[in-house]
Amino acid sequence: MLPAIAWKNKAVVMVDQRKLPWKEVYVECRTVEQVARAIESMIIRGAPAIGIAAAYGLALGFANLKMGEDPVRAFEKFFYRLWRTRPTAQNLFWALERMKKVFEENKNRKLSELKKILLAEAQAIEKEDLEINKKISEYGQALIPEKAVILTHCNAGGLATAGYGTALGVIRAAVKQGKKVKVLADETRPFLQGARLTVWELDKEKIPVTLITDNMAGWLMNSGEVDVVIVGADRIAHNGDTANKIGTYSLAVLAKENKIPFYVAAPLSTFDFNLGTGRDIPIEERNPEEVRRACGKLITLPNVPVKNPAFDVTPARLITAIITEKGILRPPYQQSIKSLK
Ligand code: MRU
Repeated sequence: MLPAIAWKNKAVVMVDQRKLPWKEVYVECRTVEQVARAIESMIIRGAPAIGIAAAYGLALGFANLKMGEDPVRAFEKFFYRLWRTRPTAQNLFWALERMKKVFEENKNRKLSELKKILLAEAQAIEKEDLEINKKISEYGQALIPEKAVILTHCNAGGLATAGYGTALGVIRAAVKQGKKVKVLADETRPFLQGARLTVWELDKEKIPVTLITDNMAGWLMNSGEVDVVIVGADRIAHNGDTANKIGTYSLAVLAKENKIPFYVAAPLSTFDFNLGTGRDIPIEERNPEEVRRACGKLITLPNVPVKNPAFDVTPARLITAIITEKGILRPPYQQSIKSLK
């Protein structure tokens, strides 16, 4: 499958995820501002992909920097512009901090060298993410029964990462093992990442996928039609509390009530070791128009007040296991997460 993001001839190229599955349109970002706006407007989305985009954004800013411009001031400007794009996904801040460390270590070099070093670091972040997804998927597939119906929410696939995916990566790896897997994809209102992106990705690979609206999940679990729930994550606190797409918390409660395993698949770059619990994870509130409209069409009164939190936090006690590139973490997460550091 095509990568969601790539560096090409001094540009950051992204598939416009707002237009999928109807059109496969590629957007070329040639400035830091364009990358920042691509993240804000969700041309690119998904925690690891946002981090990769931000790293490339910094490399791009430097690729355009002229001799005589102050690299320290330029770095700060680019860094803070990208930092402000979206507040919840930890991978964004992780990638920016990683780029900052490399910049600090090399800021006194010739500009031409600095440009190459920053680009190489962004490329390394992308390459490593793909390798990490494969490791997560390998560990995760061992948790999937030989025959299973797997419910997933939002899109934690190749589009949300450097490729392959976390939650969808586990599903891909289970299929590769010959397991008989069927996927139930939540449509994931309001942005419809499930209906538009997860369905598109799985269908391309002929992995059986059935679309449901978000409010059907509980009944299907109660009717014995779901064996496993697996989702990605945007930020995981030190105690295992996990922020992910709005609606994830409800799924975890329903899974517990129906004794169905609830798995989170995420790389270490999603862990915020500075946050003790999920209470302090910033939850992005997005434009009310996303709720008033579906696929651009008004579905309610034009001025009705709307709430649009883009994420929720699932308490650690509802999570059966967290699948990482270092292996499978089990409760108590305080301890298992500590062992990662
Ligand atoms: O608002 P989005 O589409 O960026 O939210 C994405 C999610 O919630 C994903 O589940 C998460 O980032 C994990 S992607 C591997």
